[in-house]
Amino acid sequence: LELAQLDLKALVRTIPDYPKPGILFRDITTLIEHPEGFRESVERLANAHRGLGVTHVAGIEARGFIFGAGVAIALGVGFVPIRKKGKLPGQTIGQNYALEYGVDTIEIHDDVLDGSHRVLLVDDLIATGGTAIAAVGLIRRTGAVIEHAGFVIDLPDIGGAEKLETEGVTVTSLIAFEGH
Ligand code: PRP
Ligand code: MG
Repeated sequence: LELAQLDLKALVRTIPDYPKPGILFRDITTLIEHPEGFRESVERLANAHRGLGVTHVAGIEARGFIFGAGVAIALGVGFVPIRKKGKLPGQTIGQNYALEYGVDTIEIHDDVLDGSHRVLLVDDLIATGGTAIAAVGLIRRTGAVIEHAGFVIDLPDIGGAEKLETEGVTVTSLIAFEGH
């Protein structure tokens, strides 16, 4: 008999009207505060990506660091941070992406990845997919291969995961919240 899987979805707290009226904020702090919930989230993301020849996990600041670091350790590979503009000390390449209002920029060090590498992208959540698609663009500009991304939470009705798949990236998510 297989042990019953933990209900990860039940460990995610929903906070209405944050950061603004009408938004249901899916809060992973209650999931990561739960020892088994946190460990299982990381293990499930890692197990979904074994045997693919992944050489690095790239995680997106800030919440993608929490899960991505654990997935990298579980897979026995290194971790590459993708950070908000101006935070990485070495030479970087950057990518703009659209926010609801305005644009933001994420960056990656330009001397860590090359064509010999296969990267797994990890973040806590995919909504519009704007952040993840920008990250995939950055990783591809280094020459590295990126064909897989893992998220704890997908908001499928917003369509970001589907969009990321059209970019040639297979998306795995552990939890889906329907609606917006
Ligand atoms: C959130 C979330 C994802 C991204 C998803 O990050 O952690 O990274 O938004 O949204 P998208 O699919 O519409 O791009 P946020 O920029 O709020 O910052 P944080 O991770 O630093 O909290
Ligand atoms: Mg984020």
